[in-house]
Amino acid sequence: MVNDPVIVSITNQKGGVGKSTTAISLAATLVTGGLQILVVDLDPQGNATSGLGVDRSHLNGSMYDVLLGDTEVDAAMVETSTPGLWVLPATIDLAGAEIELVSRMSRELRLKNELQRCERRFDAIFIDSPPSLGLLTINGMAAADEILVPIQAEYYALEGLSQLMSNIDRVKAHLNMGLTLEGVILTMYDNRTRLAKDVGDQVRAYFGDRTYRTIVPRSVRLSEAPSYGEPIEAYDPMSRGAIAYRELGREWRRRHGFD
Ligand SMILES: Nc1ncnc2c1ncn2[C@@H]1O[C@H](COP(=O)(O)OP(=O)(O)OP(=O)(O)O)[C@@H](O)[C@H]1O
Ligand SMILES: [Mg+2]
Repeated sequence: MVNDPVIVSITNQKGGVGKSTTAISLAATLVTGGLQILVVDLDPQGNATSGLGVDRSHLNGSMYDVLLGDTEVDAAMVETSTPGLWVLPATIDLAGAEIELVSRMSRELRLKNELQRCERRFDAIFIDSPPSLGLLTINGMAAADEILVPIQAEYYALEGLSQLMSNIDRVKAHLNMGLTLEGVILTMYDNRTRLAKDVGDQVRAYFGDRTYRTIVPRSVRLSEAPSYGEPIEAYDPMSRGAIAYRELGREWRRRHGFD
């Protein structure tokens, strides 16, 4: 029996908290462990696309075409240099989709419907959301089984989380009853600072068991990897960032019954 993929929306409307880095790095380590993964780039910035080394000038189609119904997911997705790791690429014109979709039927369910028609089999699909709570993010949440929230261990980290929670509740009530907040990941953690520890304590107090035990440290190698178009697993597998994402991958597998 072939299982349906687990669809995970990586969401936090706060910018620069590690959504794209987590999408790329977690996907890559899971693929190295034998899973087949699709990363859906829902951000017009295209950071997951470029971070996975995909050249946007040679595409058969992009997320924009998929959402507007002009290209199928299977035709638009490309395999990255890590075999088994695929990406549905985003280009800057995706910014326009948010406006163009407004007048379309089932505008919140476009991604869900298109992913259901995808014929290639994946174990998991990670959706990298843009830093907003607009129609693109809503499409991601509506298509997902679960939400994963990276939280940067810095001042103001918890600001906006209640707004995110109420948005998740709205999506659950109107579009996707089965949606769950599966996990929260602390990122860019600097264990030398008191502040990081305080934010960590607050996150665990608020989210309890949903908080991943693995903490992603601040690591220069993680910030360098995207400019080489490589996941950290390939760029510097012995770096602290790679080790943390491998550990996160093991925890993710256990939580999802892959072991
Ligand atoms: N653990 C880390 N240590 C150091 N730098 C990191 C770490 N994680 C991410 N970065 C860097 O921080 C920046 C923001 O990370 P990233 O792009 O993953 O965040 P994001 O939430 O996807 O941002 P956006 O909201 O703009 O989409 C990037 O330059 C990235 O390379
Ligand atoms: Mg991003």
